[in-house]
Amino acid sequence: RRLILGGSAGAALGGVFAGFGVGRATAVERPAASAAQNQHAQFTAFHGKYQAGILTEPQAHAVFLGSNVHLDGLKKPERIEKIRSILQMLSSDIERLVAGRGVLADTEPEMSQAAAQLTVTVGLGPAILDLLGQSTAVVDTLPPFAGEKLNPRYGQSDLIIQCCAQDPTVLHHAVRALRKNLRGITEEVFTQSGFTHAAHTVREGQGFRNLFGQLDGTNNPTNQARELAVFGDAQEPSWTPAGTVLVLRRIEMNLDKWDEVDRAGRDFALGRRQSDGSPLSGSSLSDPVDLQAVDSMGLPAIAAHAHVARAKPSSGAEVLWRRGYNYHGENGSGLLFASYQRDPRTSFIPVQQRLAQLDALNEWTTHVGSAIYAILPGVHEGEYLGQFLFT
Ligand code: HEM
Repeated sequence: RRLILGGSAGAALGGVFAGFGVGRATAVERPAASAAQNQHAQFTAFHGKYQAGILTEPQAHAVFLGSNVHLDGLKKPERIEKIRSILQMLSSDIERLVAGRGVLADTEPEMSQAAAQLTVTVGLGPAILDLLGQSTAVVDTLPPFAGEKLNPRYGQSDLIIQCCAQDPTVLHHAVRALRKNLRGITEEVFTQSGFTHAAHTVREGQGFRNLFGQLDGTNNPTNQARELAVFGDAQEPSWTPAGTVLVLRRIEMNLDKWDEVDRAGRDFALGRRQSDGSPLSGSSLSDPVDLQAVDSMGLPAIAAHAHVARAKPSSGAEVLWRRGYNYHGENGSGLLFASYQRDPRTSFIPVQQRLAQLDALNEWTTHVGSAIYAILPGVHEGEYLGQFLFT
C-alpha cells in the first residue's frame, strides 16, 4: 500500500517518512556563511499565521506549478495518505529552500543560498479538497465566461505551487528541486512563468507595468483592507481561517493589435493614463476613480465601458487582491492574472462576469487558462502544511 516513487522522490520522501522531525532538527541551521554574509541574501519566514507569498508584495519572478497526483488504483485511505505525505515533503522542502538551504538530497544546494526572498505557496484543487472531506463550495469550478477560449493545458490541477523570488536563478533551482521530489508521485499539468520588474526599480506598492505599458495594481487593496479581502474576518473567514482562495487566469494580450491604438485610445479604454497611471477623472496617480466626473464638454471623464469603470468593486465583498505577473513565450504574451480572495463567489466571479459582458480592453485580451485553488493556512514550528485536514 506504499507509494510507488521515482528515485529522487523516494529518497526525499524516505527522509520525511524517517521522521519529519529530522527536517525540523536542522531547520535552525544557519545558511552557509557565504550566503549569510551576502548583504543581498534575503530570507522569508516559513512559519506564520498565513503562508508567505500571498499578502507579500510581488517579487520580480514567479512560477506557477500545477500538477495532478497519481491516485489511480489506490483506496481512499491510501489516497488520503498520499496527499498527506506530499504535504509533509513539500513543507520540509519549502522550509529548507526559503532558509537558503537546498532540499534533502539536493544536488545543488548552493543555488539556494541567496534565497532572494523566495516564497513557495501551496494550494489544493477542488478534487483534493473533496477527497479530504472538505466542502468545495468556495473553489467549485468557475462558471464559463463570455469570450474565453480556455486551453486545457492551462487548466485545473490537483495541486498548485506558487514560487516567487527576486532572482530567476534561485527561483529556477527551487522549482527544479521541488519538481524532482514530486516526480513519480505527480504529473505536471502546467508550468507558467511570469515576471514583473527587478527589485528596487519601482516604488513599493506602486504596482507594475503590464505588457500593454499600463501601470497595473494601483487600486489594489493595501494593508488591512488587503488582509480582509484575502482572509476575511472572524464572522466571514475564507474556506478556513488563515486560508484563502487563488484564482489563476492566463490572459493573452494581443500586443500587435494594441500597437495600432494611439495614446488617447489606450487611456480611454482603461480609464487611466498610460503615462503616469492617473485616472481620467483626475490628474495624479492617487486621485480616485470618479465615475461621476465629467470633462469640459460635459461627457463622462471615464467611459462607462472603460476597464476600471467595469472592474471597480461595487461593494466591499467584491474586493480582491490582484497579484499578477507578465508572461512572454512561444505561446504569446499576456498576464498571469492571479487574484487572492476570501470568496470568489462574491468577488472574482461577479467582477469577471461584468468584464466578460463589457470591457473596452476585451478588444485586445483573451482568457486562455483558468484554475482555482484553496490555499492552505500558514503553519507553526513542528507542523506541516494542511496538517489540520488529517486530524
Ligand atoms: C484595474 C489591467 C484583467 C480587475 C486595472 C488597471 C489596469 C488593469 C492597468 C488600472 C490600475 C489598477 O487599479 O490596478 C488589466 C489587464 C487585464 C486585466 C491588462 C487583462 C489582461 C482583470 C481581471 C479582473 C480585473 C480579469 C478581475 C476579474 C481589476 C480591478 C481593478 C483593475 C478590480 C481596479 C478597479 C478600481 O477599483 O479602480 N486593471 N486588468 N482586471 N482591474 Fe484589471
